[in-house]
Amino acid sequence: MNTLNKEEIKKIDDEYIVHTYGRSPLFADHAKGVFVYDTDGKEYLDFGSGIGVASLGYCNDEWLKAVTEQAGQIQHISNLYYTKPMVLLARAMCEKSGFKKAFFCNSGAEANECAIKVARKYGNSQNPAKNKVVTLIDSFHGRTIQTLTATGQEDMHQMFGPFSAGFEYVAAGDIEGLQNVVDDNTCAVLFECVQGEGGVNVMSKEFVKAIEEVSKEHDALVIVDEVQTGIGRTGKFFAFENYGIEPDMVTFAKGIGGGLPLGGVLFNEKTQGVLEPGDHGTTFGANPVVCSGALAVMKKMTDEFIEDVKVKGDYLLGQLKLIDNVRDADGLGLMIGFNIEGADPAEAAAKCLEKGLIVLTAHGKIRLLPPLIISKEEIDKGIEIIRDVAANI
Ligand SMILES: Cc1ncc(COP(=O)(O)O)c(C=O)c1O
Repeated sequence: MNTLNKEEIKKIDDEYIVHTYGRSPLFADHAKGVFVYDTDGKEYLDFGSGIGVASLGYCNDEWLKAVTEQAGQIQHISNLYYTKPMVLLARAMCEKSGFKKAFFCNSGAEANECAIKVARKYGNSQNPAKNKVVTLIDSFHGRTIQTLTATGQEDMHQMFGPFSAGFEYVAAGDIEGLQNVVDDNTCAVLFECVQGEGGVNVMSKEFVKAIEEVSKEHDALVIVDEVQTGIGRTGKFFAFENYGIEPDMVTFAKGIGGGLPLGGVLFNEKTQGVLEPGDHGTTFGANPVVCSGALAVMKKMTDEFIEDVKVKGDYLLGQLKLIDNVRDADGLGLMIGFNIEGADPAEAAAKCLEKGLIVLTAHGKIRLLPPLIISKEEIDKGIEIIRDVAANI
């Protein structure tokens, strides 16, 4: 396997992989910390962390020890039985966040599916018409039919119909629109505090507060999708903490597993008892290997570590804003979007890659989600490459 060269890998990919992804010409071989190495040994500084997943960087020592030891102990047994990593992770996450209970699954889409099911059951138990879920325009909540329907992007609603009934959309920031659309038949409002796939749109405090207020008024549940923003990414454990609200559920995935597939939902007093035996489940959710890795991630999530994410994020954003033709730079913590004047974001990302920097794009923006363990020196190194690309594109 290790003897395959780039051309051979690409040829097999072309022949055997369904092409749902626009692949960049990076042939990843191994990685450590914030650096990825390709099959020729070229080094890349990674400002993407596998779309916000490798929160502790690549092959972090504690994470690696936790998953390899657990893999040698028991790799899977099913949720029909008890395992230590699952219960310890649920406790660690509840103690850190103040939520009461957890449900674990494998991805962000599944986490949102679960939260939507809970909201529907909560609504249905009062009145069968109380089933409307309100989401935001430009949101992203996943790629199952239900979460695709929840995703407020028209271009994602073209091909896979019929979609699920019971979703309505409101523009981010439109408080009046929100008040008009949320009513007594609404069971939940689902939103991201920073829309990641939507182009790194940071919600205003007024709007997020208004979501909480109007939801309370109509007994609709507040669900914050923290799949991309959660687990320290924005300089708080969860992004909603930047807004002073108290959601009824948060959904999480990406960064919690540190590189292995794990998602889930946290529930407060109001929602913790909605799901009952038989209502929901998944074969792989709370897998002991994955949960052991997540426990290593949780161990890192001290207040000091998370505060440092904020400091580094502010620094990165500040440095970006100093670059001559950088425009629209905005974000929260280490979740940042920007444009380079006159440049297509995909072209700019390709130029960065050529120069050894991995960046992401999202909805007409260049997007940065570096590993949370990145150092100031590594940020400076990435900024130099972005400055170079911005000057020459
Ligand atoms: C906010 C948000 N929700 C849900 C998802 C879907 O997560 P997954 O790809 O793990 O299903 C994503 C993925 O990018 C996301 O950013």
